[in-house]
Amino acid sequence: MTTTADQPGPFSSVTVLGLGEMGTALAEAFVRGGHPTTVWNRTAAKARALVERGARQAATPREAVAAAPLVIVNVKGNATAREILESAGADLVGRAVVNLTDGTSAEARAVAGWAAEQGAEYLHGQILTIAPGIGRAESVIFYGGSAAVYERHRSELALLAGRGTLVSADAGVPTLYGMAVHGTMWGTLNGFLHAAALLSNEGIEVTRFLEQAAPSVSALLATLPSIAAEVDRGEYATPYGALRHHLPSIEDLVRESRARGIDHELPEYTLDLVGRALDAGHADDSYSRLVEHFQAR
Ligand SMILES: NC(=O)c1ccc[n+]([C@@H]2O[C@H](COP(=O)([O-])OP(=O)(O)OC[C@H]3O[C@@H](n4cnc5c(N)ncnc54)[C@H](OP(=O)(O)O)[C@@H]3O)[C@@H](O)[C@H]2O)c1
Repeated sequence: MTTTADQPGPFSSVTVLGLGEMGTALAEAFVRGGHPTTVWNRTAAKARALVERGARQAATPREAVAAAPLVIVNVKGNATAREILESAGADLVGRAVVNLTDGTSAEARAVAGWAAEQGAEYLHGQILTIAPGIGRAESVIFYGGSAAVYERHRSELALLAGRGTLVSADAGVPTLYGMAVHGTMWGTLNGFLHAAALLSNEGIEVTRFLEQAAPSVSALLATLPSIAAEVDRGEYATPYGALRHHLPSIEDLVRESRARGIDHELPEYTLDLVGRALDAGHADDSYSRLVEHFQAR
């Protein structure tokens, strides 16, 4: 197959705007992958190591954008990402912009809309790894926006994360996926750390608990698909695991936590949620009924 620096392909040119911790890792992946890589960063000195490894440093974002059909932007905040792209002016026309900057879904959609008005194709990406994870087979990036850009630049994007997935034509959706993963993570971690406090307060090794309770913990995670299906259907009736059965266990956890002088705010929050659902007449429903509490505006 014959390719040139300006056409997508194994050795097509790539531009990276932003060389913070993450932007540097992204640029390094392209250099390692053999792509002619042009970089730009507000603080020019941060490009030094990349240039030593073969990257070309542009003096301005405009010069950088003009150098490649694929333009990656990764900075702090979408307002900054847009400002940098804006300074490329008419050179943005016809470029494929992949914005890997974190923010809200509305911010991602705003940059997408603006980029379309400039005549650029646009893909937003949500990175779900830290900088050292860039380039690894197990790393995840969710993409949303132009399917054409995703398909055309699949091989370049694959250098960033082995598990890149186009999740939507909507540029706002990847950030929601990222938040959903992080939200699940924080909820799970908070519950586990409260449990760890309960155990360590008694002098029980948390590692030993986890080894012995592993089947119960795994079974818990295995319930997520059925919870997801219930939420999607908006139907919460269940033949087992009804909300009313949760109540005594949560009350016990609150009393145990109070008696030990460990945090009782977290179990009390759960008790409050379950209590309200029971008061609303949902005693025989599955735990997934509580989604209505979180959906409330
Ligand atoms: N680091 C990670 O492991 C990680 C993981 C997942 C996602 N992310 C996301 O990746 C993005 C970059 O994060 P990072 O960790 O690389 O941040 P960082 O190390 O703090 O770097 C920030 C980058 O933004 C640039 N920047 C900030 N304000 C600017 C402005 N007003 N004008 C021009 N450039 C500006 C910085 O330029 P200067 O060098 O000139 O200051 C630098 O290139 C963020 O959205 C972050 O949430 C990072």
